[in-house]
Amino acid sequence: MATQQPAIRPANPRFSSGPCAKPPTFDVSKLANAALGRSHRAAIGKDKLKAAIENTREILGIPADYKIGIVPASDTGAVEMSLWSLLGQRKVEMLAWESFGAGWVTDVVKQLKIDAEVKTADYGQIVDLASVDFNNDVVFTWNGTTAGVRVPNGDWIADDRDGLTICDATSAAFAMDLPWDKLDVTTFSWQKVLGGEGAHGMLILSPRAVERLESYTPAWPLPKIFRMTKGGKLIEGIFTGATINTPSMLAVEDYLFGLDWAKSVGGLQGLIARADANAQAVFDFCDANDWIANLAEDDATRSNTSVCLKFNDARIQDGAKFAKAVAKRLEAENIALDIGAYRDAPAGLRIWCGGTVETADVQAMLPWLAWAFEAEIAAQSVAA
Ligand SMILES: Cc1ncc(COP(=O)(O)O)c(C=O)c1O
Repeated sequence: MATQQPAIRPANPRFSSGPCAKPPTFDVSKLANAALGRSHRAAIGKDKLKAAIENTREILGIPADYKIGIVPASDTGAVEMSLWSLLGQRKVEMLAWESFGAGWVTDVVKQLKIDAEVKTADYGQIVDLASVDFNNDVVFTWNGTTAGVRVPNGDWIADDRDGLTICDATSAAFAMDLPWDKLDVTTFSWQKVLGGEGAHGMLILSPRAVERLESYTPAWPLPKIFRMTKGGKLIEGIFTGATINTPSMLAVEDYLFGLDWAKSVGGLQGLIARADANAQAVFDFCDANDWIANLAEDDATRSNTSVCLKFNDARIQDGAKFAKAVAKRLEAENIALDIGAYRDAPAGLRIWCGGTVETADVQAMLPWLAWAFEAEIAAQSVAA
């Protein structure tokens, strides 16, 4: 027999890990000033692209001598143009503990055919960060979105490194402190923490990354959308709003709205506090219920954005089927949408806790998760 449904429902059931929930104050009418039907090279378009770059710099506290570019193909585009443009000059270390990090390993080892040192850890764990040699170029993901495991901080990254650090920070930017002096290349996409739209990526380069771009030419060909230099010099325009190819001005307006909203909640520290409060609600729920646990084994590496959960109950007959059925029940009740674990990840759930999600909605959703769990345990024994 199913237990009784909780009385309170989340006002917003959107807990997807990307595209993520829009900011709570979002409405399509807020995009009315988009420069639609205008050239992105006209002053109005360029000014908006420049504002997107400079507001990003302000909110994330990115140093003035770092370059920020808006690039094609979302976070994937930003990561891949960095790998293709920068690697090959020195030894490479690849760190991966979930699906996206593993994807960058495939790029480097199988596509670029670089003889990289690959360090991997299972879902829930993290690689031995103390073993990383910063004479090498090091590629890693700040927050592994599909495992809910993040690096605890940047202390493990050497200040006096000779290699470059290339960091996929797509589910970390705007939710975690990123130490810019430790990061030579940082990428993220608009569709993640600020709840923007897909398609555009952000690429942030330290002076050392720019120096590499201007002094090293990779052995392989680069398509136009990966090219950041011309005649051995950085194409400065890319980093002032003259994008490589045509962006969506609707998506730009939407990102500008997200940045304004971010400022209204206290900027980066406000966003981090919101994500922390959301994640803490889920952590507390796991502490109070022994049938569910965080996939991250070490509390120091628990994500505050993509919180991944696994079921722990001897009565569960088929873990993958069970987790899917729980997620389906919550979706059918319009309580939580898109919370199934990533397709390559262990069976379970993934609750997005980034700042656009309201803590009251997380708190309202969790008793429903308990309800769905009990209902599914009951359904399983009826079926057996
Ligand atoms: C860690 C990580 N890297 C890369 C991506 C790919 O992002 P995009 O689809 O914006 O290119 C994702 C998407 O979820 C991600 O979580």
